[in-house]
Parts: sequence; C-alpha cells; structure tokens
Amino acid sequence: MRRKIVAGNWKMNTTVSEGVELAKAVLEKSNEVPAEVGLVIAPPFTHLCPVAGVVGGTRIGLSAQNCADHTKGAYTGEVSVDMLKSAGCGYTILGHSERRQYYGETDEKLVEKVKLALEAGLEVILCVGENLEQREAGKHFEVVTAQIENVLFAFSAEDMKKVIVAYEPVWAIGTGKTATAEQAEEIHACIRRVLAGKFGKAVAEETTILYGGSCKPSNAKELFAEEDIDGGLIGGAALKADDFIAIAKSFEC
Ligand code: 13P
Repeated sequence: MRRKIVAGNWKMNTTVSEGVELAKAVLEKSNEVPAEVGLVIAPPFTHLCPVAGVVGGTRIGLSAQNCADHTKGAYTGEVSVDMLKSAGCGYTILGHSERRQYYGETDEKLVEKVKLALEAGLEVILCVGENLEQREAGKHFEVVTAQIENVLFAFSAEDMKKVIVAYEPVWAIGTGKTATAEQAEEIHACIRRVLAGKFGKAVAEETTILYGGSCKPSNAKELFAEEDIDGGLIGGAALKADDFIAIAKSFEC
C-alpha cells in the first residue's frame, strides 16, 4: 500500500515564533488525523531547528523547501543537505514551480539536488507541473512527462522508494483555481504510467503522488478520492492549523 501524505509548504511565510506556534497547533490537532496519513510540514530554513524541537520524535515529518546543489564550501546563501539533516529534516521539497520560475532551477540542476538529498538520507518531494500557456496549448501531459523523465530517470528503482512526486499545475497555485479532480487524476495516472514504464509497475504503484494548487478543506475530499491522488502539497491552507488538519482528515480511510 502506498503512503497517503499531506504536506504543508509554508513558503516564505511566518516569523520564527509564529512558525513555532503553527507547528505546535498542528501537532496538537494531529491526533484527529488517521494514523495511516503521513503529515509533513515544510517551514522556511530559519525555522527548521526550533520547529524540529516541536515536532521531533512525533508523527509529523519535517521538510525543507529546497537544498543546495553542492555539498559544502563557498556557496554563499545556500543550505546543504547535511545541514538539513543535522537540523532535523527528513524530507526536502525540490523543483517547486516558484523555484523553477523565479530562481532558474532547471531539471539538470534538480538531478544534482535529488542525488545529494537521497545520498544524505532525505526523502524528496519532487514537484512537477505545467503553466497556463502549456495547459492551454494542450501540452500538459508532454510537459509533465518530460519533467519526470529529465529528473527521475537518472535514478534507480531503489531510489524511488524515497521519492514522492507532487503534481502542481502552476495556474492553480495560489490562484484559488483548483484543477478539477478529473484534470488532476488524468495527470497523476499519466505520471504513474511514465514511472511504470521506467521502473516497473510495482515501483509505480508504491510511489506517492500528491496534488498541489489551491487545495483546501472544501475540495480535498473530492481530489483525494481519486485513484491516483495520494494526498496533497498544501500552500496557503497549510498556514492555518485547522485547515491543514481538515485537509488531512479528507481521506476516506
Ligand atoms: P497553494 O495551496 O497556496 O495554491 O500552493 C500550492 C503550492 O504551491 C504548494 O507547494
């Protein structure tokens, strides 16, 4: 059985003390969420150590939002995978569309980052997704397939055990415009087919594929009911503990 996961990407929000309070609130309410649903939060780098102090040793996993493409040295402003590990992270998000769009993150660079993260023992939440122009041109399957091939085909079936894929259509992120359950499901099924073609059906069946993009308590149930949607990567709604927990309770367990 593949894992169901709801992960909160806090992006560049909250001060350290607000982040610690949010983590405490999520932890407090986490017993409302069925045990088989994995919970992960991804605060900004500055919050990782204090938030690890809150969620360390609990059911809540701690994720970074990015990592450096080098192990150490003269890379001012970067944060290495070993730093993340030592801060208490078990996961890192990689390839978020905001990083691809605003910080020039390429698939090539992502191969390097995924490699370093896996070697350090971090699980990777790899984001893929088309933008509005690509969707309107009918290229969404093609774009997402290429992102998966360009990054994940560099890895082994064994590596895939530590990779979670997040499909986040760029046009649905922070816009209030969610993909319909059908639109999301057809891409998730496509991602699983692409993974099956490379790594075999068993690996593809075991891979958790999350949906992200204006996911909220009011639409999570419909999305999570789809065969190939195994949870969500939540932005805005992850900044409110009640909404995040309500989303995590939306599986039919
Ligand atoms: P929103 O839920 O705010 O649309 O953000 C989704 C996202 O980008 C999560 O990584």
